[in-house]
Parts: sequence; C-alpha cells; structure tokens
Amino acid sequence: MLNEKMEKAFLEQINKELFSEYLYLSMKAYFADLNLQGFVNWMDVQVQEEHAHAMGMFDYVIERGGKIVLEAIDKPENNWKSPLEVFRAILKHEQFVTSSINSVADVAEETRDRAASIFLNWYIKEQVEEEANVGGILAQLELIGEDKNGLFALDKELATRTFVAPVIG
Ligand code: FEO
Repeated sequence: MLNEKMEKAFLEQINKELFSEYLYLSMKAYFADLNLQGFVNWMDVQVQEEHAHAMGMFDYVIERGGKIVLEAIDKPENNWKSPLEVFRAILKHEQFVTSSINSVADVAEETRDRAASIFLNWYIKEQVEEEANVGGILAQLELIGEDKNGLFALDKELATRTFVAPVIG
C-alpha cells in the first residue's frame, strides 16, 4: 500500500508527464506548420514517450493499491520563434522534469518506500538520456544557425527516430 505522501507525489508527477505529452504535441503542431516532417516525427516519438512515462506511474499507483485522481492539465505554449528556441525550451523543460523526479525519489527515501525507490530508478536513468538527446540536437541547431541546408539535413536525420515502447520499472 502506498502511503499518502508517496501517492500524492506520484499523482503530481503523472500530471507533469501528461503536461509534457501535451507540450510536445503543441511543438509537433509548430513543426507541422513549418513543414519540417523530420522534426514532426521526432516530436511524435517524444509525445508517445511522455505518454508511456505517465502510464508507467499510473499503473504503478494502481498496482500498489493507491487511488488515481487526475487533475487538469495546463495549457501548453504554442508559439516559438525558431526550431532553436523550441529545443532550448525542451531542454529547460526536461531539466525541470529531472528535478521533479528527483523530488519524488526524495519522498520515497524519506518514507522508506524501497519498492518505490527501485521503481523510480528507471525514471532517473531515463532523464539522463532525455537531457543528453535533447542537448545533442540543441548543439547541432546552434551550429546550424541560419543555414537552411543544415536544417534540412537535421530534419532528415530526425525523420529516422522510431518509438520503442519502454519497459518501465
Ligand atoms: Fe517524461 Fe521527458 O520526461
């Protein structure tokens, strides 16, 4: 059985993962508007990953006998100046999610919930990957600058990303 504090921390994190899904969906629409189909594909995979992150916790709360109560999801931003600005926003958002996951892990430690700590390790490792991936693309976009050919080459590269359903926990 989940203690109340742990349950609340999971529910808040589920909301943040669902907001991430929503934010990336909004970014997907931004890239669709620019007709950058590789970026659209990359965002689409990101959307599916965030959904999987939320559902992993959702299923875990139920498995542990907790009660799911869903809150409203905030309206995401829908306007950016450039792909570079989008990726700066993604990195900033992922850094926020990392610190948030770390706080959930702190609650697991404080409440001596070892099972939750082990479960959360997957998310902690995932965040390292998320930040590295996004940081890599951001670095490429900074190098590309105003070079349209560079942008189209990156778009081609991002078109190859595929979603692999994660095995969480
Ligand atoms: Fe669910 Fe992008 O972290």
